Amino acid sequence: NELYAVVGNPISHSKSPRIHSLFACQTGEPVEYTAIQAPIDEFSGTVRHFFERGGKGLNVTVPFKEQAWTLADHRTPRAEKAGAANTLFLDQENELVADNTDGVGIVRDLQNNHGVALKGLKVLVLGAGGAVRGVIGPILAEQPAELTIANRTVAKAEALVRLFAKDAGATVLSACGFEAPDQPFDLIINGTSASLQGDLPPVSANVIGPATVVYDMMYSLQTTTFNQWALDHGAHRVHDGLGMLVEQAAESFFVWRGVRPETAPVIEELRTD
Ligand code: ATR
Repeated sequence: NELYAVVGNPISHSKSPRIHSLFACQTGEPVEYTAIQAPIDEFSGTVRHFFERGGKGLNVTVPFKEQAWTLADHRTPRAEKAGAANTLFLDQENELVADNTDGVGIVRDLQNNHGVALKGLKVLVLGAGGAVRGVIGPILAEQPAELTIANRTVAKAEALVRLFAKDAGATVLSACGFEAPDQPFDLIINGTSASLQGDLPPVSANVIGPATVVYDMMYSLQTTTFNQWALDHGAHRVHDGLGMLVEQAAESFFVWRGVRPETAPVIEELRTD
């Protein structure tokens, strides 16, 4: 078997080993996938050691995605723009390549699993941290009508708008604070880490209309804090980030193996775990 792993700290709750084992089973690919907890100050040594031992590919998670991006000798265009990497592998010259599959992960989950085509939609993204930066490029590529990035620290949302201005095409791309948006959006994506503390970004309930679809990039067994708030204010549908997690994993699997696993049965399996 060929060796793959996810590196993070902490790592014990990671669903990636389970997801990739299911992919390996389903596709018959000779993939063995483990979890590695890297000491906080030992990420690069952990990566080097893994590939020296013959490892074929790594996923990278919190808090090392930016370090993975810095460490790589080469970056795919989508990783370059994301400023963070969740996927590492060696090229034919044995040089370290960084990729980022998070952005296509959310777009595929929305479009393929939830029937939400982004083209022409009015989209509100809450948050402007690393997780949001990773998804802006792939969302813009689908040509929404509007993409509004709202954040507690408005300057960070403005910096993202400058960074992606050239990729916006016909999309109206703008930045603001949480209190500014006051009209219903077609799609609201929560990319803040506020819900980790059971907190809500203080956005007006006017952003939710009867047709609004809400997507929380977090996932949990129960409805997330943000999604519950959205339901309480009449959102049409809410989704959490489990599908995104499986879709980014499938894209990494494809990057490494050239084989695209089916995601729907894996998402279903994880829901009932
Ligand atoms: P991640 O990798 O999860 O994106 P991050 O880069 O630290 O982590 O970004 C966290 C995001 O959640 C930021 O947009 C942050 O707002 P600031 O940029 O103003 O710090 C947002 N966030 C975190 N805690 C929050 C809270 N309690 N209320 C609202 N927004 C919060």
